[in-house]
Amino acid sequence: MTILSTRNITKNYPAKAGTAAVEVLKGVDLEIRSGSITAIVGASGSGKSTLMHVLGGLDKPSTGEVYFNDQNIAGFTDEQLSKFRNREIGFVFQFHHLLPEFSALENVMMPALIRNLTAKEVTSKATQLLSQFGLSDRLDHRPSMLSGGEQQRVAMARALMNDPSVLLADEPTGNLDEKNTNDLIDQIIELRSSRNLTIVLVTHDKDIAQRCDHTFTLRNGVIA
Ligand SMILES: Nc1ncnc2c1ncn2[C@@H]1O[C@H](COP(=O)(O)OP(=O)(O)OP(=O)(O)O)[C@@H](O)[C@H]1O
Ligand SMILES: [Mg+2]
Repeated sequence: MTILSTRNITKNYPAKAGTAAVEVLKGVDLEIRSGSITAIVGASGSGKSTLMHVLGGLDKPSTGEVYFNDQNIAGFTDEQLSKFRNREIGFVFQFHHLLPEFSALENVMMPALIRNLTAKEVTSKATQLLSQFGLSDRLDHRPSMLSGGEQQRVAMARALMNDPSVLLADEPTGNLDEKNTNDLIDQIIELRSSRNLTIVLVTHDKDIAQRCDHTFTLRNGVIA
């Protein structure tokens, strides 16, 4: 069963004062099967992050459709989109995007608080997620007091807080050494079965792509 798909999506950034127009995506068709792990690869600047943002409803395509099950999220209002993201999508950014003034625990709780649950209701779940990622003794640390690998693990815990159906991870291991990369990838792959997740992963690493069920290569604005 297909859970997420795109039909002929394009994304252009129009020319602005001093910058030329950029056509990043030129008609991307993609099908993500429920429960699969998909790797997205491609050169720097080929549009991988752009595509991930469109898939996760963080950004809208210029034209084309993005289906989550049978709903075209490209036609959603901003309010529908933020609800969709909060409920269905766990997003791990290329650069962790943790909130600097909040602790690790607060960062992980944030998606649930946005959903109007109370801190009291969600503290133990957030604590449990952080300990699952080996961070039980870092709950009160702010992002700046954490190593790069720890920051990415907090970002993973935050992405899982609302039990999403899809995990979108944009080069989650981009800044990590080999040992930390392998550990994080093992944990991500394990989530497929333990949480029944569909996973889309951007990576530059051929070994990681090989461990996925499918690989899509972005080249010249389309899937090669
Ligand atoms: N807001 C913007 N305005 C204009 N151009 C943009 C904007 N955002 C991204 N781009 C351009 O779109 C192209 C694709 O960017 P994107 O971040 O999707 O690439 P990427 O494949 O994720 O690269 P990397 O591997 O380096 O992360 C780049 O050439 C970039 O310069
Ligand atoms: Mg990118």
